[in-house]
Amino acid sequence: MGRLIVVSNRVATPTETKGSAGGLAVGVFGALKDAGGVWFGWSGDVVSETVANAGPMLEQDGAVTFATVGLTRKDYDQYYRGFSNATLWPVFHYRNDIARYERDEYAGYRRVNAWLAHKLVKLLEPDDIIWIHDYHLIPFAEALRSEGVTNRIGFFLHIPFPAPQILLNIPPHEELVKSLSCYDLLGFQTATDQQAFHDYVTRHARGTVSADGIVEAFGRKLRTGVYRIGVFPDEIAEQAKRYESRQHVLELKQSLEGRKLIMSVDRLDYSKGLVERFRAFELLLERAPEWRGNVTLVQIAPPTRSDVATYQKIRQDLEYEAGRINGRYSGLDYTPIRYLNQQYDRWKLMSLFRESQIGFVTPLHDGMNLVAKEYVAAQNPDDPGVLVLSIFAGAAAELSGAVLVNPHDAIGMCEALQRALQMPLDARQRRHEINMAALRENDLGVWRDSFLRDLRSVPVRRSGEGGGHQ
Ligand code: G6P
Repeated sequence: MGRLIVVSNRVATPTETKGSAGGLAVGVFGALKDAGGVWFGWSGDVVSETVANAGPMLEQDGAVTFATVGLTRKDYDQYYRGFSNATLWPVFHYRNDIARYERDEYAGYRRVNAWLAHKLVKLLEPDDIIWIHDYHLIPFAEALRSEGVTNRIGFFLHIPFPAPQILLNIPPHEELVKSLSCYDLLGFQTATDQQAFHDYVTRHARGTVSADGIVEAFGRKLRTGVYRIGVFPDEIAEQAKRYESRQHVLELKQSLEGRKLIMSVDRLDYSKGLVERFRAFELLLERAPEWRGNVTLVQIAPPTRSDVATYQKIRQDLEYEAGRINGRYSGLDYTPIRYLNQQYDRWKLMSLFRESQIGFVTPLHDGMNLVAKEYVAAQNPDDPGVLVLSIFAGAAAELSGAVLVNPHDAIGMCEALQRALQMPLDARQRRHEINMAALRENDLGVWRDSFLRDLRSVPVRRSGEGGGHQ
């Protein structure tokens, strides 16, 4: 079995992969450890051109090499801040209204992909299989192919793939899909995302799609599949329990003085439906006065991409809403919304989830949303909380034990909160069991292993063959 090469915009550090890093880092690292290989990507630093060109920096941890490069200011602005996060991210989350398109940023995006691919080529061996992650790196396989790389290359999209009519908003949409067709295997979070890609191929690229997901387009043939990313639920349950008697949990419990607790945790991103969520909570206090003073919403929202204008705007909007709602419903000893712009240790969060009666996860669009899955896994089976989940999170397709809501329906969300707050123990337990069974059946290991199994089964190409297996 050849080595595994993982490429993602951000690379976890060796220490992060062992501690409480997010599920993805742990899952991917597990596969890297087994097969041996390289994890390659951006270091997260903006550096001078000399330093950038001197990379990659290599760090060895057992059979795994962590290889990272810095980006120059121009590359960062055009590739990361520009085309990735001000064009692709909003459009792929159906927010073309706040997306912008700049030709030079797109050129920078392609240039950085080509540059990164060139850096990686030197680290490759003939038997390696290559797994590229997420929207920052759509042209990566095309760039590797043009350097003569014939290894198997797979791509997994962590975010939604938009319906064709939405994708058309990005002027070079056809080039992007053509770049995607250079992979041997394309993985999507849900059947809806895969279908959207197939729709584009058949309606706008004169391509064909077979019943088993084989796509032929742009003179290439590639496989597509659905691989729903998961968590390791039993590990989360164990850690959440282990942390439940720690100081931070005791302090939270004490400060709640017996009030019910609703927990939300998201990066501070406009796709997460934070303003809509705050308003639904406000509506609960307005329409059901018996809950005033008796329920608290804790929203943890670490800032992200704060040098992109749309992220500055969502931060302002949310600060305004939190202040307004708290001004309206606070008492001298009660603050309805506790809004924290901080990053928390993952196991700490799991133990806070375990203390709460509701996990309120209401994105407007989300590839999967692992917080929803983590919330379920962290519950105490003897007295579980209820997950109130947006129908627009990929996780909604699996977690049929959740109370599903449409985040655009403020009254509907408010009613869901009321229902969850009053739900009897046996109903909560039944829902929790259904959700846990789904998490166990499709855990992070299944996601990773099935993607890699499918990628390994793609026929290997002969040197000189163009993009896509024949
Ligand atoms: C989403 C994306 C990831 C990204 C993460 C953090 O989950 O799908 O690819 O790494 O957000 O975003 P950031 O811009 O801080 O890397």
